[in-house]
Amino acid sequence: MDSILLVLLAYLYGSVLFGEHIAKWKGVDIRSVGSGNVGATNVARALGKKYALLVFLLDMSKGLVPVWLARFYMGIDSWTVFLVGVASVLGHMYPIFHNWKGGKGVATAFGVLLGISPFLAFLTLLVWLMVFKWKGYVSLASLTACVFAVVFSLFFMPAKIFLLALVITVLIFYRHKDNIKRLMEGRELKVGS
Ligand code: G3P
Repeated sequence: MDSILLVLLAYLYGSVLFGEHIAKWKGVDIRSVGSGNVGATNVARALGKKYALLVFLLDMSKGLVPVWLARFYMGIDSWTVFLVGVASVLGHMYPIFHNWKGGKGVATAFGVLLGISPFLAFLTLLVWLMVFKWKGYVSLASLTACVFAVVFSLFFMPAKIFLLALVITVLIFYRHKDNIKRLMEGRELKVGS
């Protein structure tokens, strides 16, 4: 498969905001609820856990499917995997179909990691679960898990995958700047808020 085409398709598929579409289908404007984000956490606030899980899985598929294809056709240590991974997350964050106003990229990034290494994805998920159980904030669990994903990939993955994890983590931190501010001020929303 052609690398440029795969990168383009990854970006376009990433640009489909399932959270916004599913909430709209249920009669809810997701951007006017809770944090205003289009991700699974805010869908949980607006529509409950069942729809949140659906949105999480669909958002995750935006990273998983293109990266798995890139890995299958070009090999794990290729620039195509790097570019496809970044493109899928950027699609979710800056979607062409939604005026460039997207989400924070965590579920899609998790899909990227799963497509690269189910083992690293599992380790990262464990970190996420521990922090979430400890503090109860999805954003804090997500940010901590991102940092650990970078550290894990430094030890277990080729250099390009480490770079991919680093770039995606920087993007995710940038998209969480309001969450970070709220966390520091003790005003962050929990899932049930
Ligand atoms: O993945 C987004 C999550 O980390 C935070 O979501 O809605 O609380 O801003 P939210």
